[in-house]
Amino acid sequence: MLDFSTIEQFDKIATPFYYYDMDLLHKTVDHVAELAERHNIKVHYAVKANVERRLLEYISSKGFGADCVSGNEVLHAHSCGFPADRIVYAGVGKTDKEIYDALTLGIEAFNCESLQEIYVINEMAHRYGIKASISVRINPDIDAHTHKYVTTGLYENKFGISQHEFEKLIEIIQKSEYIDFFGLHFHVGSQITRVSEVYALECKRVNEIVRYFERQGLTVKNINLGGGLGVDYDDPDGNAIADFKTWFDTIEANIERRPDQMVHVEPGRSLVAQCASLISRVLFVKSGETKNFLIMDAGMNDLIRPALYGAYHKIENLSAEQRTFFPTHQAYDIVGPVCESSDVWGAGRLLPLSVRGDLMAIRSAGAYGQVMASRYNMKDIAPSVFSDELGKAPQIKDYFE
Ligand SMILES: Cc1ncc(COP(=O)(O)O)c(C=O)c1O
Repeated sequence: MLDFSTIEQFDKIATPFYYYDMDLLHKTVDHVAELAERHNIKVHYAVKANVERRLLEYISSKGFGADCVSGNEVLHAHSCGFPADRIVYAGVGKTDKEIYDALTLGIEAFNCESLQEIYVINEMAHRYGIKASISVRINPDIDAHTHKYVTTGLYENKFGISQHEFEKLIEIIQKSEYIDFFGLHFHVGSQITRVSEVYALECKRVNEIVRYFERQGLTVKNINLGGGLGVDYDDPDGNAIADFKTWFDTIEANIERRPDQMVHVEPGRSLVAQCASLISRVLFVKSGETKNFLIMDAGMNDLIRPALYGAYHKIENLSAEQRTFFPTHQAYDIVGPVCESSDVWGAGRLLPLSVRGDLMAIRSAGAYGQVMASRYNMKDIAPSVFSDELGKAPQIKDYFE
């Protein structure tokens, strides 16, 4: 929740910008670190959700690992304090250069997504005389009951290796001399809100698959259950910290593990979504034929989730909240400046009467926001502003002075 003095300081800052509530980040990360220790579960932060250096430095300082999906993420995570032996690297399309960089850095494990990838990694490891540690990402064919663009564990998705290739997979692992088999990796989707149901199902399927691989003579030392825990986009203040407890309890109750087996998880969104808001200003208020438009200076180039997935973000008029009179409310279509009809923050949103210059907060913007920003329409990239460094933020210029 943004307090009065913070909002007052926003008045001097050039918009749009991503505002990071560092207290909330610290509370969330500390809470997860404590739960992970209690449940003996290793946490790898899914770097793709947000690559902001200050966030990564805090997360790595708490002993978390990093889950990366590109060579640049691997190098960036390492430069932000994640030791190489706590970095895992997934992704269906790793280039030779990316494999080389990760191999020579000595990462904890490649999460391999195809038989050919294992073959190529083994060849490269052979050439450079380094043993590669690999996990195999399995497609468990589980419905995560989430948006189809963030469902990853169904046979129709491109991720992981499916059951029909298991025999060949085991043969390749057993024959590949430059590979150390680290374990099995799963990830069924993102923004999972039916937490106990979906993760219990995932664990049950994982138990069967682990048993199968061990019967074939492979020791599964590590079981990585992926990420996906959902956050509350409707009520970011009421549920500022995602339900990690239910997630970890569900895993503990359902996963079968020997004392020598380690369980890993890879939360991205749930660690960082709620700690950031995209702060924007109303540029113009326009009456259309049938509706009123609030035109903001932040658009789909800054945060593409609404345009890409039809995602909902709570939007607040911060300036109206500070006004002393009680304004009437009005329905607005809140839109961005980009020349695309999909550049809509929310249709028919009820807000206090809003005027040019009002500061608006697009909440829960910390995950899959800034990382997907683009320079479409040659817009500038919105900078980061941190709650503990407000004085360093770029100042607004008054063109009417
Ligand atoms: C392999 C893998 N692990 C973890 C994550 C993180 O998911 P989330 O941000 O939903 O926790 C993703 C996201 O797509 C992923 O692909």
